[in-house]
Amino acid sequence: MAFRHILSNLLILLAGAPRLIAQSDSVELTSCCQALADTFPDEISTSTLRSSVYEKSNTRVWSASTILSPACVFQPTTVKNLAAAVAQLANDSCEFAIKSGGYNPIAGAANIDAGVAIDLNLLNQVELRTDGGGVISLGAGALWRDVYDKFENEGIGFAGSQVGFIGVSGLVLGGGYSYFQASAGWAADTVVNFEVVLASGEIVNANQAANSDLFKALKGGGGNFGIVTKVFLQTWEQGTLWAGIKWLSIQPEDAGPLLLGRLRNFTVQNNDNTRVTASVEINLSSGAPPTARIDFVNIDGVEDAIQLESFANLEHYDDAVWDIVEEWTTEVSKATDELGMADPFVHLNFAGRFQKPFCGYGADNLEFLREVAGKYDPDQVFQELVPGGFKLNVEC
Ligand SMILES: *[C@@H]1O[C@H](CO)[C@@H](O)[C@H](O)[C@H]1NC(C)=O
Ligand SMILES: *[C@@H]1O[C@H](CO)[C@@H](O)[C@H](O)[C@H]1NC(C)=O
Ligand SMILES: *[C@@H]1O[C@H](CO)[C@@H](O)[C@H](O)[C@H]1NC(C)=O
Repeated sequence: MAFRHILSNLLILLAGAPRLIAQSDSVELTSCCQALADTFPDEISTSTLRSSVYEKSNTRVWSASTILSPACVFQPTTVKNLAAAVAQLANDSCEFAIKSGGYNPIAGAANIDAGVAIDLNLLNQVELRTDGGGVISLGAGALWRDVYDKFENEGIGFAGSQVGFIGVSGLVLGGGYSYFQASAGWAADTVVNFEVVLASGEIVNANQAANSDLFKALKGGGGNFGIVTKVFLQTWEQGTLWAGIKWLSIQPEDAGPLLLGRLRNFTVQNNDNTRVTASVEINLSSGAPPTARIDFVNIDGVEDAIQLESFANLEHYDDAVWDIVEEWTTEVSKATDELGMADPFVHLNFAGRFQKPFCGYGADNLEFLREVAGKYDPDQVFQELVPGGFKLNVEC
């Protein structure tokens, strides 16, 4: 039951819509933004300078609670410009954030208050490479729905996101869950090359032959080593698929457990079948009170708060939702621990802000990630000047 309550809450409270950013009267740029504006005048925006560009970028997120107030937004039009900007930011000790698609619900994962928000959305070129190996090259800021549109008629399959408005590099750097999980593994497992801007401003490739330690570290290591600008994925021949969504009412009361029971049976029965996948989500509608509404009434502390609200007003529930998620996660961990069934692995992209996903990678892997970060980012720019994302100095 508790599971259903939380799922319902998550769906309604974390689903976000943009709020408007208050306009500041000041036209002064911070020194970090000024330095970028001097070099790349057409790629910088603030709340007063090209403000509609700034607002569009700043609100291009999934969760309203991740809309912050960056001093400026930098949208590089070329990898070369990005590389020069990163070297400059590092040299000037400027804090910055990096956004691919902006889907992560943790505020600050892809945005920043007062610092420089780098938005990769213009680095979004996608192409099927012509060397015959079935490799596609994807700009880091492309959204997966655009990738799917582009290759719709190519007869290829590849491990992309399950949700269209996730960005290419955000998905892959955290591992990346796809509909081909059972046959292809993580999206990161299917990468054959990364193009990366290092803190020094150098642009390098990382693959099995060149910078292979960086190649390995990027497959789940997040934004700790540099800014990935292109991801090269291995594809395979793929025809049409059987697929669909079936929405069921979670009333009567026992429908939820029945649904989960069927899902469990499906999983058990298809354990060795790499060609199928299934998941359950719960539909809440606006308009008439949703059938799941009854669930909210049973949650301690929020009884009186249940009403129809605009998405923009939901932000103030954020901490309450995180508290519920943390409590639930802690309880599940305790229960699975007691059963001897706990697994310390946490998928980086799905990790809550209270979790320590890198601890679940194991001490040796974490040490490896730290070594790679030390080698490719000796000044620790991505540890110290980029506050967002899970860092490597975590205590396990
Ligand atoms: C690096 O920073 C110093 C000051 O800390 C400045 O004098 C120099 O011009 C900067 N170099 C670049 C390439 O931005
Ligand atoms: C799951 O499978 C078992 C064994 O076949 C069956 O007894 C049970 O009713 C199934 N559960 C559901 C919810 O369908
Ligand atoms: C969700 O449920 C409502 C009615 O409760 C329905 O009108 C709507 O179509 C459903 N959404 C989907 C995607 O099926």
